[in-house]
Amino acid sequence: MSALQAAAPRAQSDPGHPIFHITAPAQWMNDPNGPIYHNGFYHVFYQLQPFSDGDGPKYWGHVRSRDLVKWEALPIALWPSTEMGESGVWSGCCAINGNGEPVIFYTSIAAGQSAQTHAEQWAAIGDKDLITWRKSPANPVLSESLHGSTKIYDWRDPFIFRDRKRTFLVTGGNLNKAQGGQAVVNIYESENSGLTQWKYRGVLFQIPEAGARTAECPNFFKVGDHWVLLVSPYGKVQYYVGDFDAETCRFQARARGLLDVGPNFYAPNTMQLSDGRRIVWGWVNGFPGGHGWKGCLSVPRILSLSSEGQLRQSPAPQLRKLRGDAVKWRNTVLHGEGAVLPLPHTNTLEIQAEILFRTSDSVVLTLRNAAANPSPVVMKFSGSEFRMGNASGPLALAGSERKLDLRIFIDRSVLEIFANDTLCATKIISPLDADATLQVS
Ligand code: FRU
Repeated sequence: MSALQAAAPRAQSDPGHPIFHITAPAQWMNDPNGPIYHNGFYHVFYQLQPFSDGDGPKYWGHVRSRDLVKWEALPIALWPSTEMGESGVWSGCCAINGNGEPVIFYTSIAAGQSAQTHAEQWAAIGDKDLITWRKSPANPVLSESLHGSTKIYDWRDPFIFRDRKRTFLVTGGNLNKAQGGQAVVNIYESENSGLTQWKYRGVLFQIPEAGARTAECPNFFKVGDHWVLLVSPYGKVQYYVGDFDAETCRFQARARGLLDVGPNFYAPNTMQLSDGRRIVWGWVNGFPGGHGWKGCLSVPRILSLSSEGQLRQSPAPQLRKLRGDAVKWRNTVLHGEGAVLPLPHTNTLEIQAEILFRTSDSVVLTLRNAAANPSPVVMKFSGSEFRMGNASGPLALAGSERKLDLRIFIDRSVLEIFANDTLCATKIISPLDADATLQVS
């Protein structure tokens, strides 16, 4: 904590440092871990390297919030138990076990071992406020011996879910590596209320792409009557929607898509709310180094399903609290060059736009700084596709009026786009300058 605190003034005074996205006080962060709503607080943990703004041995940082908007930094929750040979505490989840105890499940990496060839899943028990944690005497709670003669590479990232009073856990991994490998999600079923004994139930799902290296950070949960699987396959995050058979422990996918088509979003993790809704946060990666901080989380996104079975994401409604005075343009009809709209003189803003496609097939939004550099951010939305640099994804206009609803969050160096709630794209940008404009054409 003292290393983090010492690094915080520099990190937080950096002009690119986001202010309304979740960040660590300073230094490197990656995946969101163990999001849980507990005793009136939204808790989010995250992968943290407290001694450097570059990658290194992982700890669990911790923030909490009463409203999903203002986040309070809390003491580091987990660190490697070097006295037990641990060198890194990798990603995982948090749940309340059958004895009412808060439990974190995470991947424990041993000193001197490659995470690819050896890992264990460990547990830690929390106090009632989830602030202090002690490693469970039952560790490892899942070890490779559960798989018998089957060898799983890159075995990690436990995620707990419940179905019909049974408790399951999934992990990512790669099977049959010698034969080319298959990226899979493995499933286990708990055998006791303390969640310290588990049985391997096989492969829940295999990623269809032959070349996928592994399925990092699987999340598996219900949205309405359907099951949703999220996986991070060393590429853009995939989602699958389908059916789960708890008897055979197999998932049958009927639809799939990408959670975010931008270049800077990975390893998301989800939280279930008491009313059954789900919130997802992703790791926003790819920031420039050397600024005393690197990484943040996306804004909280509420998940739902469209009538066609596509996953929808909308910014948590609480984010409206962040809005200041609005600058409004109404009934702007675009011809030819379109319109250049001055932006409020701030580099933290939200753009909300409702665009009706009358005679045109596409609209282009260009964010441009007054200074010539860097090059502008160009977002093209057509009736069928979204495009921003090399990033692209399918996009459908809504209704007979062919409407595009946009919410765009700009938080200094982070740009997060929601288009018709079916397409999201996250990108690192250079902060806007005071006279930046938005061209709509
Ligand atoms: C995903 C990931 C996880 C792992 C963690 C380590 O970004 O590689 O699979 O647990 O990061 O920080």
